[in-house]
Amino acid sequence: MEKVRIGIVGVGDISGIYLKNLTELFKEVEVYAVCDLIKEKAVKAQETYPSIKIYDNMQQIFDDEKVDIVLNLTRPYEHYEVSKAALLAGKHVYSEKPLAAKLEEGRELVALAKEKNLLLGGAPDTFMGAGIQTCRKLIDDGFIGKPIGAAAFMICHGHENWHPDPAFYYQHGGGPMMDMGPYYVTALVNLLGRVSSTMSVAKSNFETRTITSEQHFGETVKVEVPTHVNGIINFESGAVGTILTTFDVYYEAQARLEIYGTEGTLIVPDPNFFSGEIKLLKPQDGSYKVMPLCFGYAENSRGLGIADMAKTLTENRDFRADCQQTLHVLEVMDSLQKGGMTEITSDFEKRMPMVPGGIPGVIS
Ligand SMILES: NC(=O)c1ccc[n+]([C@@H]2O[C@H](COP(=O)([O-])OP(=O)(O)OC[C@H]3O[C@@H](n4cnc5c(N)ncnc54)[C@H](O)[C@@H]3O)[C@@H](O)[C@H]2O)c1
Repeated sequence: MEKVRIGIVGVGDISGIYLKNLTELFKEVEVYAVCDLIKEKAVKAQETYPSIKIYDNMQQIFDDEKVDIVLNLTRPYEHYEVSKAALLAGKHVYSEKPLAAKLEEGRELVALAKEKNLLLGGAPDTFMGAGIQTCRKLIDDGFIGKPIGAAAFMICHGHENWHPDPAFYYQHGGGPMMDMGPYYVTALVNLLGRVSSTMSVAKSNFETRTITSEQHFGETVKVEVPTHVNGIINFESGAVGTILTTFDVYYEAQARLEIYGTEGTLIVPDPNFFSGEIKLLKPQDGSYKVMPLCFGYAENSRGLGIADMAKTLTENRDFRADCQQTLHVLEVMDSLQKGGMTEITSDFEKRMPMVPGGIPGVIS
């Protein structure tokens, strides 16, 4: 079987799970080459997966005719330049979130991909996992009646206590909305459909952050982005959601994502993961009932989105994590992070649901 070949730009903290799943789980793709500004990181990837080539820079990946898709795993403020260069070189691109640090850059990338007839898409792909797919089916099948609202709370005190190089979380393209918002907003639009407008208040409560993870312990980072974003999301369907994303609050319980309907309430698993406990409350039951997962990919299946995208190159079909979704999500996050009221202009249609069953690692 001819596999779709992937070239990865940036093999930092998140690359481990992509390398593992794209090498071991997803049958129709192959990690062909990697590069990183810090060559030792690429060497480390090759030590674990010896068949992978190492290139000195991203241009060498773009120049290699064998590479079909460029996987952009750089930091958020680097996404635009890397994705743009890859598209200009004629490569399909799958990018970590967000699509770009600025909305205008995201729009430019989408226009460029269209002009060059190339595929563009990106993270998150957790919405394709067992948790959100099961919730989607429950909602679509009427288990909570007509959806009327949602609540999404991503509350933590930032990532500077665990990420090896966490400065980017407080720089342009970072912050809780651009970093964690993609999971929540992507889940919400898959469950409730297109967003028509937003209202929000966004601020930061700390001017600097002190890193307590190992490599940069004690260093101070200037906060350049809002780190406490409170918003209202109006869906085209008439449902209204409340969202809080914050890096300013100490909190130990699990994040929250809830969907409210005329006939019940659905507690959705943390959308940063591929599954989790799903609970349904119907007035006649009086208490929450745990619902079974009825789709695959409950484990950490990062790479599912790019494997699905690869399928588009071999079969004539759409792919789920495409740039219509990543641009819509970017516009919603950008508007929430900006503050005030904003009409959302980008199109969005709910993605094709996943197909249950089949061979694990082969996407239908
Ligand atoms: N770390 C996580 O847990 C996590 C989880 C989900 C998503 N993400 C997303 O993944 C992306 C990367 O995050 P990370 O935590 O791996 O960051 P990281 O800083 O650990 O790694 C990024 C790597 O990209 C490299 N790089 C940057 N520009 C490059 C270029 N032009 N050519 C080659 N290499 C280049 C850097 O040298 C670095 O090693 C971000 O968008 C982040 O939001 C991270």
